[in-house]
Amino acid sequence: MEDEPEIRPATSHEEFLSALTVRVTVFVDEQGGPLSDEPDAWDAAARHFVVLARGAVVGTARVYQPQLGVGKIGRVALLRDFRGRGWGLRLLEELLAHTRALGLREVVLDAQTYAAALYARFGFAPEGEEFLDAGIPHQRMRLRLHYGPAPGAPAPASSPREQP
Ligand SMILES: CC(C)(COP(=O)(O)OP(=O)(O)OC[C@H]1O[C@@H](n2cnc3c(N)ncnc32)[C@H](O)[C@@H]1OP(=O)(O)O)[C@@H](O)C(=O)NCCC(=O)NCCS
Repeated sequence: MEDEPEIRPATSHEEFLSALTVRVTVFVDEQGGPLSDEPDAWDAAARHFVVLARGAVVGTARVYQPQLGVGKIGRVALLRDFRGRGWGLRLLEELLAHTRALGLREVVLDAQTYAAALYARFGFAPEGEEFLDAGIPHQRMRLRLHYGPAPGAPAPASSPREQP
């Protein structure tokens, strides 16, 4: 269908540059953030996702691992004309599918406070106090993907017999 977006990892440097253009439009021109953050040092290590409408990049987000086993989602942005259609939710679904496929233990993000409800729908829980980044209120949020014992936790006293 023509109005359905294609959402997937960027596959070329050109697509990354288009994603960066979306970030500048949204975070610098629209929200007044610093141009010096676009790109930043994490971009080289991140997996970049693009949202394509009729072949054009209209949205983006990135995922990287600041620590082993912990994913960080960031730079979630859609050009203004493409918001309010549920594409933000679909982008989040793709990002989380990616973090699960990587076998990550948990995912964190720094939500702009106004958008925290979007992430809460996926089970992200707020953590700590609200803080300002580039003058905009943010809330750290965390989603645990695995609920097994923490690394280094003692093994259970007895384990059930393995089934054939
Ligand atoms: C964040 C962003 C990608 C979300 O995409 P979107 O197209 O607006 O969101 P969707 O249409 O998928 O909305 C899905 C849900 O998100 C939440 N949501 C989205 N925008 C919201 C807003 N401004 N205020 C409150 N909730 C919002 C709602 O729960 C909404 O559910 P609903 O349809 O039941 O109301 C988009 O608004 C954006 O690019 N914003 C500017 C960039 C930005 O601030 N990014 C950082 C966010 S941490």
